[in-house]
Amino acid sequence: MPSIIQALLALSSLLSTAHSLPHRSSNPIPSIPLNQISNSGVAPFPYPTTALKYIALQIGTQNYTCNATTGTYTANGALARIFDATVYLTNHPTQVSSLSRTYLDLYTAQPCSRWPSTRVPADDCCEDLTNLASLHPLPVLGEHYFSATETPTFDLYAAPGHPYLSAKKLGDVPAPSAADVDWLYLVGNGSPQNTIINSVYRIKTAGGVAPGSCTGNGWLEVPYAAEYWYYL
Ligand SMILES: *[C@@H]1O[C@H](CO)[C@@H](O)[C@H](O)[C@H]1NC(C)=O
Ligand SMILES: *[C@@H]1O[C@H](CO)[C@@H](O)[C@H](O)[C@H]1NC(C)=O
Repeated sequence: MPSIIQALLALSSLLSTAHSLPHRSSNPIPSIPLNQISNSGVAPFPYPTTALKYIALQIGTQNYTCNATTGTYTANGALARIFDATVYLTNHPTQVSSLSRTYLDLYTAQPCSRWPSTRVPADDCCEDLTNLASLHPLPVLGEHYFSATETPTFDLYAAPGHPYLSAKKLGDVPAPSAADVDWLYLVGNGSPQNTIINSVYRIKTAGGVAPGSCTGNGWLEVPYAAEYWYYL
């Protein structure tokens, strides 16, 4: 069994050449479907004003800690693998609507996952196996995580020029379904490490919502998938 996993991961590394925007497609780049949410409330989204760099598909976990006093979960960061879906979604624009759900279903069906969980390994194995289980495995772009100072970070280390975005959240709008985490808009926080990408929209979310109540002081990792649209 380990040898099969190693073979799959070796295949994964062959597939992991990151692409930028497609050159050989005659299809136009899809436009970001912000019209699918009621873009209002306290933190609505601006439409992008700069060029699209990547459409990523990300799978991983939203982390929550239980507040024993209130009996409710508080968000405590996230950890996710970043895959490049730019070419795939340009060639299959109808999948913009369904790719997150497809990947979440594949992810939660993996034998390596047990959801919800308190012990998801941070090694990306389960996320990479999920990608390989897809009909169209996507190239790896990098990793999304929260820094020690709780700063959302997007490290596209596998892409040309190593795009990097240490971010702050400016927009937050509920997803069409309450079963999915909010759609978000984040921009660079001024970190000198930031390069190439300046903003990102988290849209088309699937899953990631904590249960409504909890007891004790534990934590919970809830699986999710989403499209992240990165702009210059
Ligand atoms: C989730 O939060 C707990 C408590 O802070 C931490 O121990 C755990 O490593 C976190 N998991 C992830 C995937 O970040
Ligand atoms: C739990 O919630 C209470 C009430 O909102 C708050 O005062 C307290 O700081 C919270 N505890 C933690 C560990 O966040």
